[in-house]
Parts: sequence; C-alpha cells; structure tokens
Amino acid sequence: MTEHDFILKPYTIAKQTGKVSWESPSNIALVKYWGKKKDQIPENPSISFTLNNCKTITTLSYTPKENVDDFSFEVYLDGIKKDDFKPKIEVFFQRVEKYLPFLKDYHFKIETQNSFPHSSGIASSASGMSALALCLMSIEKSIQPQMTVEFFNQKASFLARLGSGSACRSIEGDLIVWGKTESIVGSTDLYGVKYPYLVHDNFKQYQDTILLVDKGEKQVSSTVGHNLMHDHPFAKNRFQQAHTNLESLKSILKSGDLDSFIELIESEALTLHAMMMTSIPYFILMKPNTLEIINKIWKFRKATGLHMGFTLDAGANVHVLYPKKESEKILEFIQNELVAYCKNEEYICDEIGFGAEKIND
Ligand code: DP6
Repeated sequence: MTEHDFILKPYTIAKQTGKVSWESPSNIALVKYWGKKKDQIPENPSISFTLNNCKTITTLSYTPKENVDDFSFEVYLDGIKKDDFKPKIEVFFQRVEKYLPFLKDYHFKIETQNSFPHSSGIASSASGMSALALCLMSIEKSIQPQMTVEFFNQKASFLARLGSGSACRSIEGDLIVWGKTESIVGSTDLYGVKYPYLVHDNFKQYQDTILLVDKGEKQVSSTVGHNLMHDHPFAKNRFQQAHTNLESLKSILKSGDLDSFIELIESEALTLHAMMMTSIPYFILMKPNTLEIINKIWKFRKATGLHMGFTLDAGANVHVLYPKKESEKILEFIQNELVAYCKNEEYICDEIGFGAEKIND
C-alpha cells in the first residue's frame, strides 16, 4: 500500500445526516516511538500492547452544510464544550482532508469521553485520535460499502497516525508494529500492522497496572518531545537500537523468555528517558516516586523471582507489566507496597486488549 491508495475515489452519493460511535483503546509501547520526520513518519519502528480498559468513546454526528470552504466542528468532553481541543483537531482535519474529501461538506459534532481521568497522564491522544479516525472511516464506508475490513482498518490506522503517531497502534490488537523494519514482514511507516509471528502463551492476557505518580498536565508535549531528537547527539544510535530491539523481541515473544522480555522493555523505557535527559533543552520527567517504585520492583523481583517489569511513557507514571499467571502475588505487592507512591493512591488495572469496537445504537 502507498499513501495514494488511501485517497477516496470520486463518488456520487448524496450527502446525508448521520451519527456513528466507536470506542478505541490506548496502547503501551514496548519498543518506543521517539522522533519523527515530516508528515508523522516515525524515525524508528515501535511495537505496543493494545490495552483493554483505558479507552475513549467517541460519537460523531454529521450534518450536510452549504458553505464548503472551511471545516466546521464542535467538540465535547463528558458533555462539556472543549474549544481548547479544537486546534489539534483542525490540524488533524487539514492533514487528512486529502484522503477524506467529504470533510468540508459536513458540520461535525464530536462527543467524547474517556474511561480514565483526562489529566491522568494516560495517552488520551492515542485512544482519542484513533476513535475519531474510526468514526470518519465509518462515514467513508457508507459511501464505499464494498470496502474490506482489512482496508478499513489500514486506512483508519493511517488516518489516526496523522492525528497522533501512537494512535495508529490502537485500531487492532493485541500486539501492533508501526514503522518499517527488516525483521518484520509487512511493517510500514504508514500504519500499524498486527504482529505477524508466533507469540508464546506467557504473553497472552499480559497485565498492565498503571501507577499514577503524577497526574498534572504534561511537562513536555509530544510534538516538542519528538523534535528533541532532531540534532540529538545519540539519535542515530537510538534509532538503530530500536530496530535491533524489535528483532530481539521476535525470539523473546516466540520462546516466552520473560527475563529477557523484562530486560528489553525496561531498557527501552530508560533509554526513552535518557534521550530526554540528554537533549537540548533537557528534561527529567520521572519524579522521585517513579524511582522509588522502580527500585521496589527490582528488589521484589530479586527476592521472589516473579516476573514483574516496568515501562514508562514520556511522563512520571509507571506501567507495571506482568504475566497473568503471576498476577495474584504481584497485585498484592502493588497494593501493599507501591500504591502509596501514587498521587491520591490512584492506579488503573488494565491488560492486553484486541482493539477498537464499533458501538451500535
Ligand atoms: C513516548 O504518539 O503522543 O508514548 O505523534 O506527536 O502525537 P505524536 O506523539 P505521540 O508519542 C508517543 C510517544 C511515546 C512512545 C510510544 O508510544 O511509542
């Protein structure tokens, strides 16, 4: 597939009023996307677990309008009008208009809600942008009813990427690769693809308990963050390392080697933060409690031999990852020892999920 394949062919269907809803999950990267080129093309490949419980539910209502010169839309979060969300969506519409030429034909009402607190630092852009892209694809499907599920998902992921890179990994599950890399057949910079190789049972129903260490607004926006990789002294090696890590992950996922898995994901998380600490300007996004939690996890692992590992996003929260079969003891430890380091003792229990779902009226 090329970008050209996603341009909607001319059609003659009359404009109609309608309404469509999707729920789409967040995802957590194992090999991180950090650094992008023009048009939301990643500097390196990434892979993520799709989550199950952290999701955005979006309803898109559309009404034909007379003036087709501008985009026209309103956005609501939990029923409250959110004009501060509009600039990001306006940019998204500009980027996708070429592929969805009907965008200026309608006035859109975007009503959205998250299953997690908006300011929790959980990436609502991944679930939010993927949910919106899926709603727009449902409109396209009403124009082109013969499109295949495969094309629908690919184009939804392609559009979601233009809204937020990591959003392209939220359409399907349970393991999604985004970014061209030699070792993964079918991988592309344009959209996320399902991980195509054998995965050991150890990684089925993998658990992700998200410890909300800091719930404030992001200190570094993702756009600013990715830009830090331009002219970064370690960029070239880091981008290469992501390819190598994806290749290593292939044999780990096949064999079920949990120790190597933990080593790889923790190294990825710390490398992401190391990149932020060594860029100009530099940032420390971990908080003292992030480090307390990491040290406690390491001690617990050493003492028990249980497979509790962590990963981080571009923030202070800790994603604790572990296999389902060890969850009883690990969750008990989290509740007894780690939750105290969270802001207001808040945490979210999630696990691997299988992607977005359409909500029927
Ligand atoms: C650290 O997808 O939020 O979570 O493309 O600018 O919207 P934009 O960036 P975004 O970046 C996510 C970065 C990350 C790692 C990852 O999810 O792979």
